[in-house]
Amino acid sequence: MAGRVDGKVALVIGAGSVGDGYGNGKAAAVLYAREGAKIFAVDIDGDAVAETRKIIEDEGGTCETHSGDAMKSDQVEAMVESCMATFGRIDILHNNCGGSIPGGPAELLEEDWDFQIDFNLKTVFLACKYVLPIMEKQGKGAIVNISSIASMTNIGRDLCAYQASKSGLIQFSHAIAYQYAAKGVRCNCVVPGLMHTPLVEARVAGQAYNGDVARAIADRDAMCPTGKMGDAWDVAYAALYLASDEAKYVTGAEIVVDGGVTLKSY
Ligand SMILES: NC(=O)c1ccc[n+]([C@@H]2O[C@H](COP(=O)([O-])OP(=O)(O)OC[C@H]3O[C@@H](n4cnc5c(N)ncnc54)[C@H](O)[C@@H]3O)[C@@H](O)[C@H]2O)c1
Repeated sequence: MAGRVDGKVALVIGAGSVGDGYGNGKAAAVLYAREGAKIFAVDIDGDAVAETRKIIEDEGGTCETHSGDAMKSDQVEAMVESCMATFGRIDILHNNCGGSIPGGPAELLEEDWDFQIDFNLKTVFLACKYVLPIMEKQGKGAIVNISSIASMTNIGRDLCAYQASKSGLIQFSHAIAYQYAAKGVRCNCVVPGLMHTPLVEARVAGQAYNGDVARAIADRDAMCPTGKMGDAWDVAYAALYLASDEAKYVTGAEIVVDGGVTLKSY
């Protein structure tokens, strides 16, 4: 049976994981491969992306890897060139890089503001800058950007830079969707809620719970109407739909994957 993205080439940026298990980028790369895509997996951490490659190859899929920093223009240009040299086209661009540093404007260091704008927005700008001309030439392509429900609402922490950059990402995606609609290139966002990915253990517990992982998990689970956080596969399946031709008439859209968190008003 044909896969849902059979024969496509997917450039996944941030395709490793900050800890054991599956982060959003790693799950997306593995799922695209299971559904027939060839994967060009990029990460700043060579070991993390090598693990993604091993999983894909062990399952019989195709994956090439590249180490690079998605915040640096010359390195993004090099990763795109390397993907083209390897596979000759880019059908799917999946922008996964991003993250938060807590604080309101009075507490947040200026450098931490700048970092988050670059991590959540500039990474996507740079990838689009180098990939869009290729997709335009192909007359076809799908971009999937990973936003957050912090773009829509408060998630129980002071995250002014994260909220600003993740909502900026949605409007950035709308701008691309409109500009490239007649050129066959689609651009959409997945908007995850509270997901149990390795970054909860690696980052969130340290930032907001004094390193108490059990409390971080219990607190985040309790915030979800389902009683449980989602996981990286929930995000990956939404991305798969948006990246596939099943979504050929879907552009400038958001799929919220949050188990109903944003339905709460208390
Ligand atoms: N987990 C959640 O609850 C949640 C909720 C909403 C949105 N998100 C979003 O999901 C995305 C992250 O998901 P994840 O679970 O895959 O995270 P992750 O932290 O595991 O990151 C994935 C990979 O990105 C790599 N990376 C970091 N900086 C990079 C850079 N400059 N260049 C290239 N690679 C880099 C890391 O090495 C890591 O392997 C972010 O955009 C985040 O904002 C997560």
